[in-house]
Amino acid sequence: MPFPDSFIQELKFRNNIGDVVSSYVNLRRSGRNMVGLCPFHGEKTPSFHVYPDNGSFYCFGCHAGGDVITFVRKIEHLDYVEAVRFLADRAGMQVPERQVDDGMARLRMRILEINREAARFFYSVLNSQEGQPGMDYLRGRALTQRTIRHFGLGYAPPDRFALVNHLRRKGFSGEEVIQANVAFRGRNGGAVDRFSNRVMFPIIDLRGNVIAFGGRVLGDAKPKYLNTSDTPAFHKSSALFALNFAKDAGGDQLILAEGYMDVISLHQAGFPTAVATLGTALTAEQARLMARYAKEIVLCYDADTAGQNATARAIPMLREAGLLVKVLTVPNGKDPDEYIRSYGDQGYARFKNLLDTTGNDVEYRLQKLQQANPIEEPAGRVAYLTGAAEILAGLTNRIEQEVYAGRLAEEMSVDRSAILRQVDSLMKKRRREEKKKEFREYQQETAGLRDRVNPDKASNLRAAAAEEALLSAMLRYPETAEGIAGALSADIFITAFNRRVYAALKAKLDAGTELSLSAISGEFSEEEISSIARMMARYHDVPVSERGVQEYIQVLKTEKAALRARQAAEAEQPQELLGYLEALRKQKK
Ligand code: CTP
Ligand code: MN
Repeated sequence: MPFPDSFIQELKFRNNIGDVVSSYVNLRRSGRNMVGLCPFHGEKTPSFHVYPDNGSFYCFGCHAGGDVITFVRKIEHLDYVEAVRFLADRAGMQVPERQVDDGMARLRMRILEINREAARFFYSVLNSQEGQPGMDYLRGRALTQRTIRHFGLGYAPPDRFALVNHLRRKGFSGEEVIQANVAFRGRNGGAVDRFSNRVMFPIIDLRGNVIAFGGRVLGDAKPKYLNTSDTPAFHKSSALFALNFAKDAGGDQLILAEGYMDVISLHQAGFPTAVATLGTALTAEQARLMARYAKEIVLCYDADTAGQNATARAIPMLREAGLLVKVLTVPNGKDPDEYIRSYGDQGYARFKNLLDTTGNDVEYRLQKLQQANPIEEPAGRVAYLTGAAEILAGLTNRIEQEVYAGRLAEEMSVDRSAILRQVDSLMKKRRREEKKKEFREYQQETAGLRDRVNPDKASNLRAAAAEEALLSAMLRYPETAEGIAGALSADIFITAFNRRVYAALKAKLDAGTELSLSAISGEFSEEEISSIARMMARYHDVPVSERGVQEYIQVLKTEKAALRARQAAEAEQPQELLGYLEALRKQKK
């Protein structure tokens, strides 16, 4: 048992799920529940529900669900024990000493220590004789000593064992160094430096930990950049370069650029709100992270095709995170770093001017559309207006739609209300399609077709439904649990997963612990907890009466009897079959 039941109860009591979730998700009240946009998948209409009365959450869109501990695990990428510590810290509670060691938390800590030591090493090499090539390179890119220090830039020397040997002397094992991904396993099994002869960019999280590195070659060799792969202490998809600085730079705006050097140049030039993803496309998670520190994002990707495609993909993601979006296009096909550098002392003023005259994402998309369609010709005009209506239909703000419809009408000399009618019909069509998709998913789900956690369900639908109703009654109305537990032994449950949940609940009851999802969440995987949360969510608005409970118990008993009869019959069948074959043979003779 990882933590005492009483501690988990207290933890749950002091960390109201509504409050905890609210610090990540914009929730609005809906009766006794709260709803919002799911933080675990991208969506436009809210299907993420929080049920404060029983301490659970469930998303009807992506089926993520669980208790407050599960929520923290998922959103902070922590394991169970770390999530418990996180919540204990939040509530100012002391975590009881445990005999079981939390191996994952220790490994993560070691990795962070290794990264810090590695960053120090790279930095000191850069500033030594040996680091001259790296220093020449960075100075060649117009970085000042101050900028280099501010970002903690470094240099990985050409020797392929420099860092590994240094870390060994500091007491880290080859195994740990490989886990941290600053080294890989060489042919003879030993650790070999991952980065060599590269300038190094440490990636620092919001708590000041060095979580990863990017390393750039000094010349034209490939790959140009090498980055740390995901480790237990680093998830590419949820980190942003320089957010540690940008978040404190003041203002409601962040600049999102494509590369490390763009960000560093921007900071040096006087734009300390620039951040970048780590060589990957923007994720919904990163968009939400930015939304915690800003209201508006200025997209400032490269002007090439790749950059423009990335812009098109990032816009809806940022919007869904509730952010306003502007799109800054750097002239003459340059990236922000090249642009700023090309103007020397004028860099700040020039870029500031671009920033101040930048249009928002709708204007940007309309402009792109117009460039693609020759509006001097009727066919081009129709294509432009049709595409424009599609763009407007994707906006959720009515006022915004009307403003742009007005502009389009004027610009193209057409009727504003005709544009709006087109927009409305497109929106209706989209909503219909969304509903249809949801319904199809719901059907599959209720038919038990997709239940990976409880595969027995598909062939025992009636029994599984009764089991789930009973389990959710026990979790939602702990006072009914005693009665149910008194009437049913675990082996009457037909589907294996539900039987396990029931046994876990019964064990808690026997130990005198009040039932809740948190009471058992340490014993199940995240996916399994989601399944239990789904049962609770599905029956949430159905009040459970004493009679209802009796009926479910009855259904379960009947189904069990039927199953036993079926199994008995199946067991007999081979005998019958043999007899039949025997009879056939005799007939033939
Ligand atoms: N990137 C990467 N691996 C590569 C190339 C690029 O991870 N092989 C990532 C890096 O984070 C890089 C970003 O993608 O900063 C943008 O790439 P690119 O535009 O090619 O590089 P720049 O930032 O312009 O790099 P530089 O100015 O140093 O040439
Ligand atoms: Mn560049």
